[in-house]
Amino acid sequence: MKLHISGVFLLLVFTLAKHILAAKRQKRQDEQPAPPSDPIPPPPDVPQPDPNNPSGTLAPDPNKPFAPPYNPGPPITPVDYTYSLNGGNGPSSWQSSNPQCAGKMQSPIELSDVPLVGVSYPPLRWEGHWDLRDEGFILANIYQGVQVQFVGDGPPRLRGGPLPTDFMLSHVNFYWGNETGSIHSIEKHFFGMEAHMVHYKRRYGSYVNATKEQDGIAIVAVFFTASQKNNMGMATLVAGLSGIRNPGSSIPLYGDAMMWLKNFNYIDHYYSYAGSHPHPPCNEIVTYIVMENPSIIGIKQIRDFQKVRTSEGPLIQNRRPVQPRNGRQIFYCNYSRADEISTLPVIVFTSIQIFIFVFK
Ligand SMILES: *[C@@H]1O[C@H](CO)[C@@H](O)[C@H](O)[C@H]1NC(C)=O
Ligand SMILES: *[C@@H]1O[C@H](CO)[C@@H](O)[C@H](O)[C@H]1NC(C)=O
Ligand SMILES: *[C@@H]1O[C@H](CO)[C@@H](O)[C@H](O)[C@H]1NC(C)=O
Repeated sequence: MKLHISGVFLLLVFTLAKHILAAKRQKRQDEQPAPPSDPIPPPPDVPQPDPNNPSGTLAPDPNKPFAPPYNPGPPITPVDYTYSLNGGNGPSSWQSSNPQCAGKMQSPIELSDVPLVGVSYPPLRWEGHWDLRDEGFILANIYQGVQVQFVGDGPPRLRGGPLPTDFMLSHVNFYWGNETGSIHSIEKHFFGMEAHMVHYKRRYGSYVNATKEQDGIAIVAVFFTASQKNNMGMATLVAGLSGIRNPGSSIPLYGDAMMWLKNFNYIDHYYSYAGSHPHPPCNEIVTYIVMENPSIIGIKQIRDFQKVRTSEGPLIQNRRPVQPRNGRQIFYCNYSRADEISTLPVIVFTSIQIFIFVFK
């Protein structure tokens, strides 16, 4: 009997020690400084934004000179596609001039009408996404949408999760519509609006260069539920929309314009899959991270997005329909590896209980 009890005790001690060591090893890995990344490339010789922008309602703060955009987002140029539902270069005809739009790994998709593959990834690490930026942002009418570009030095950085290395935030795109505005859906449910934080792999130096690579882009998608209440964090951005009604126009934004990014619950509950840009040229180079927990947006605020114009008139909606999954796996991360450490106290507590019970 004695032998038996000490056997159980030894086993317990052994299990405990194993867990402590594993947790320590994990912690050490998490704390390790990021491997030396490629140096930030020197600023290319790009022109300053037009200081005489006539459309700006939010005048640039004279105390904050506009930083040279040496981390330029995609150029703001006219596009040859629309989101029209009945012809007119709408989504159903994109493939005629953009063959990749007929590919097998297109976005958006319905996210959970198939068995999901449960996974645990390392925790996502956000760096600078919701900091105030002295360089400000550019709010632009990109002809078939609205974009906020993160110009200037030191773009926000994302790593962890399904991403093998550092990705830098280039810009944020918005998708909206009349009743339903999101383009991804969860269990066939669409949300009021969807925003995409478009990141490029740091190694490729710039967004434009990264779009030429197979693994160049990572998009974090977040949902908004339409609400009677406005999202106060978006007030600065929504006010700026009246300054970019005309296609191709842009204004600078400063200060708290992007603080609303902070409102999402970035707990590690998200979907991940391999897809494409949800607009031409539809390149299939995107790792998606679709956050499960929505924020809110005011219905009035959505109406302000709908007042932004294309050359044909107000852009009521800019939603590509859901695309076939074509056998792609959709990963669902509801558990990040850092959580493992939190099981340790439970094991310790249980071991002590058993110990007391056995030796009482
Ligand atoms: C995580 O998701 C997987 C797959 O949907 C599911 O089987 C598992 O129970 C979930 N775990 C938790 C802790 O929610
Ligand atoms: C959206 O609503 C407007 C105004 O009610 C209507 O004219 C338009 O046809 C609707 N568009 C879509 C795509 O539902
Ligand atoms: C982008 O690619 C071009 C052509 O390969 C190269 O000259 C340029 O330095 C790259 N830009 C950055 C920012 O890495």
